[in-house]
Formats: sequence, C-alpha cells, structure tokens
Amino acid sequence: MARRLSTLFLPELSDSRELADSTVVVTDVLRATSTIVTALDQGAAKVIPAAEIDEALRLKEELGPECVLGGERGGVIIDGFDCGNSPLEFTPDVIAGRTLVLCTTNGTRAMARCREAAQIFIAAFVNLSKTAEALSQQESISIVCSGTDRRVTSEDVLFAGALAAKVLEGSSGWQPSDQTMIALGYWSEFCRRANISEAALADELASGAGGRNLKRLGYDDDIRFCAQIDRVPRLARLDPQIWEII
Ligand code: MLT
Repeated sequence: MARRLSTLFLPELSDSRELADSTVVVTDVLRATSTIVTALDQGAAKVIPAAEIDEALRLKEELGPECVLGGERGGVIIDGFDCGNSPLEFTPDVIAGRTLVLCTTNGTRAMARCREAAQIFIAAFVNLSKTAEALSQQESISIVCSGTDRRVTSEDVLFAGALAAKVLEGSSGWQPSDQTMIALGYWSEFCRRANISEAALADELASGAGGRNLKRLGYDDDIRFCAQIDRVPRLARLDPQIWEII
C-alpha cells in the first residue's frame, strides 16, 4: 500500500480520524514553530504550547519561577508576559534549563487541534532536514500549516513543499495528496527562481501577509532568522499525551 503524504493548508481542514492514524508535523514558520525549535536549541528544558492566554497564565502559576511565559497577539507581546514570540529573545541566559510556556495566535492553536495525532513533530525551515529524516520512517504523514486567522499563508505552504520534497527524495512509496502537490509546485518554482539562498528565502517569507505584518512591526531580523535552513539540527517532538515539546 502507498505511504500517505498529506498536507493541510489550514488546521481547520483536518479530520480527527485521519490525524489519529498519522504522524503530524505542525508548522508556523513565522514564527511559532521557528521559535519553539530555537528555544529548545538554546537549552529550554521543554516547551508547553498553550492555545489560550488564560491557560498560559494558569500554567505559569503552577510552574512558578522556572517558567518563562512567551506569546503574542497580532505579533505583539501579550501584557504581563515575560517574552514575545521572537526566536531571537530566547537566548541561553533567558531560557536554559527552564520551561517555556508559549501562547501564539495561530501556531499553538494549530497544535491544539492536532491532539488526536499518533505522534507530533514541530517544524520550520530551521530544522527542515532533521524533521524530514525522522519522517522517512513513517507510513502516514500529515503536514499541518497554521495559517493566519483561518487564511492560508504562503510561508507555511512553501515549507510544506520543502519538507515534502525532502521526504520524497529520501524514501520511496509515497502518495502525495493534492495539497502536497500544490506545495511541491510552489517550492520547486521558488527553487528554480531563487537558487535557494537564505536571502532569497527571507524575501519570499517577507512577501506574504504574515511576513508583511512582521516587517511593519519591525521584525525584519526575525524573518531573516526563520529563513536559515537547518540552523538547528534537531527534532522537536510534541508528546500528545503529556503535552510537552522536547
Ligand atoms: C502565530 O502563531 O500566529 C505566529 O507565530 C504569529 C507571530 O509571528 O508572532
């Protein structure tokens, strides 16, 4: 039987029965999943994704001073939180050995919709190859794009294409879904046009609605950071039972 390589351009398009049989990869390139992978790389003990602000505040109260509370609404730090959602904020002096509770507008909500999944990986360009390597062992994959406020975002679709291309390169027997084929088409058109340089990828990420919003808020450095392919050679796994990313 063919191995299933499916992509959902929005979390709302997911089907819980399908997720239950799949290894799910959640992506929110700008910026939640880039930030989570980076925080782990900088020494965070774990990351707990919270869909809503009250849930994040409750976790902070439970965990006490070892917890760093990060998050945004509309790209801007939430009142009373320790940090926003910039990967550049999570340096070792801020995060090493501590738990990051992160609450974002789209990324951590997308994760909450995938609770039924057999296994969940958190991915972005910064950990593209490590994620693709782990996926090559699987039989059924769903790449879930977070989007922005229920609208499809180009940067997540571009990443889905890059990840699917690596999975197809690395192992055989896959049946890509229609959304996967569209994502693959975008990625291969980008590669032809831009020769995959980091500067070109940063420009491409900046050209979508999410990127334009971050630019407007002055987060140009974050976009460049999120365009660094394989900067972090590690896998990030969200345990669907205990709800922690390590
Ligand atoms: C989100 O989850 O909506 C994003 O990560 C927004 C942001 O870039 O801060």
